[in-house]
Amino acid sequence: TIDTELKPHESIPKADKPVLVCILDGWGENENKDKFNAIHSAETPVTDALKDVPGRWRTVRAHGTAVGLPSDADMGNSEVGHNALGSGQVIDQGARLVDIALEDGSAFELDGWKYISESFPENTVHFIGLLSDGGVHSRTDQLVGFMKGAAKNGAKRIRVHILTDGRDVPDGTSKQFVEQLEKDMTELSGCDAKIASGGGRMHVTMDRYEADWKIVERGWHAHVLGEAPHKFTSALEAIKTLREGDGSKTITDQWLPPFVITDDEGKAVGTIEDGDAVVLFNFRADRMVEISKAFEYEDFNAFDRKRFPKTRFVGMMQYDGDLKLPARFLVPPPAISGVSGELLAKGGVSTFACSETQKFGHVTFFWNGNRSGYFKEELETYVEIPSDAVPFNEAPDMKAREITEAGKEALLSGKYQMVRINFANPDMVGHTGDLDACVGACSLVDKCVKDLLDTVESLGGRWLLTADHGNADDMVQRAKKTNAPLFADDGSTPLPLTSHTLAPVPVAIGGPGLPEGIKFRDDLPNAGLANITGTYLNLLGFATPAHMEPSLI
Ligand code: 3PG
Ligand code: CO
Repeated sequence: TIDTELKPHESIPKADKPVLVCILDGWGENENKDKFNAIHSAETPVTDALKDVPGRWRTVRAHGTAVGLPSDADMGNSEVGHNALGSGQVIDQGARLVDIALEDGSAFELDGWKYISESFPENTVHFIGLLSDGGVHSRTDQLVGFMKGAAKNGAKRIRVHILTDGRDVPDGTSKQFVEQLEKDMTELSGCDAKIASGGGRMHVTMDRYEADWKIVERGWHAHVLGEAPHKFTSALEAIKTLREGDGSKTITDQWLPPFVITDDEGKAVGTIEDGDAVVLFNFRADRMVEISKAFEYEDFNAFDRKRFPKTRFVGMMQYDGDLKLPARFLVPPPAISGVSGELLAKGGVSTFACSETQKFGHVTFFWNGNRSGYFKEELETYVEIPSDAVPFNEAPDMKAREITEAGKEALLSGKYQMVRINFANPDMVGHTGDLDACVGACSLVDKCVKDLLDTVESLGGRWLLTADHGNADDMVQRAKKTNAPLFADDGSTPLPLTSHTLAPVPVAIGGPGLPEGIKFRDDLPNAGLANITGTYLNLLGFATPAHMEPSLI
């Protein structure tokens, strides 16, 4: 049962000064402490010193089953991480729910499936999504599971629109995912299945938080209209050619331009037409919301769609619980209730949340259990600092300084009892695979943390510092058994690791307002991100609600 009201903590008095909760996105505590650990290589005197405070620094698990993912081989990510941090609960996440629905066959009995099945005999069914086994947004085995289900249920024509990854999996792997998919497609009996269009996930379709609608527009043109500057007769040829770019520098999988697959006459093999079924096969929400709006909303002006086919459109999940978007979906999303934001709003606690665009929805939407609205608008202020629309190794400072300023201002204003901040740099620069840029980014974030903690100190407040998953803590691919860094064929160029890591994340607490005897307990060695929620509620002076994981203090 869900506690709907916060009760006072039995010994920690209610905070009369602001409590800061600061998330360093992608800042893991990795055992590999060589130069490829960008955090270790950076100048981080402030976060280093926190480790020496007895009983007020520890790590928690941020990956795998501790955050509701199918297995402990799954790295953490910002969606599941912020869901856990905001809700205090370990929830079966989208990846796992889809696995279950495919295993027990329930996916094929639900309304979403029945709805698209009506297109199977006469029309095409299109699958659009991220083609990799990264397990952060999607998984190819789930795509194949649904394609098989469609073929078995009488689908005559399948078209797949692929977004190449290289961000949750190593760069260059898109080729093997395409080869595997083509093989899997030939095994669908009685069904004409082809790849129809695609592009790199950071350049085509998968924008988030409206950072750059152009990305979605490119995808619409390629997937729906069959228009793109580059046309090929096979996806393998597309990837091979597009990666070469203009010859001066490889274009990585994440950033491939949009492409369309054509037949021998130059005609696109899979435009999206009236009556077709369209399935977005990503389970994760943030990067599917905009394209969902483009398919679902009659009234839409983010870009000119040119043609708006009447499709049977479903998401793998419902991506936004407030907007009910999309209206139809294959698998019901995780039900996340009794989140801290809701309880705090109900308890009259004023909160301020801030990040830059790339992580804005993480500290609001994901934090609040995948809801895009406010609980009580008069008590909540959400500030988004616009992110630059560039590859972040070219601007690794991102908006860390601006976020710090906004956070300081909120703390000093006296208007908010809780201030939560997310710094995007260690994650977003980590994903570029650029070690030097990432080292610089981590050094800057450490300075920003100092600024914020100093502000809390000056006010006599309390603070909690943590992260949502690892990323910057390892920037190189490693040999499975020995952990030794891997290099390209030349023997000297390290193979960059663009993805998150399995590392645990640090948690530190402090501030002059925190009673002296408060220390982390030592009987929760396996604690995870969900244990942090009770902890910051305690810092605010509230007891840990019964439906949440135990507090770390
Ligand atoms: C992305 O969407 O950028 C990555 O797949 C995951 O990164 P995030 O979980 O840190 O947002
Ligand atoms: Co990330």
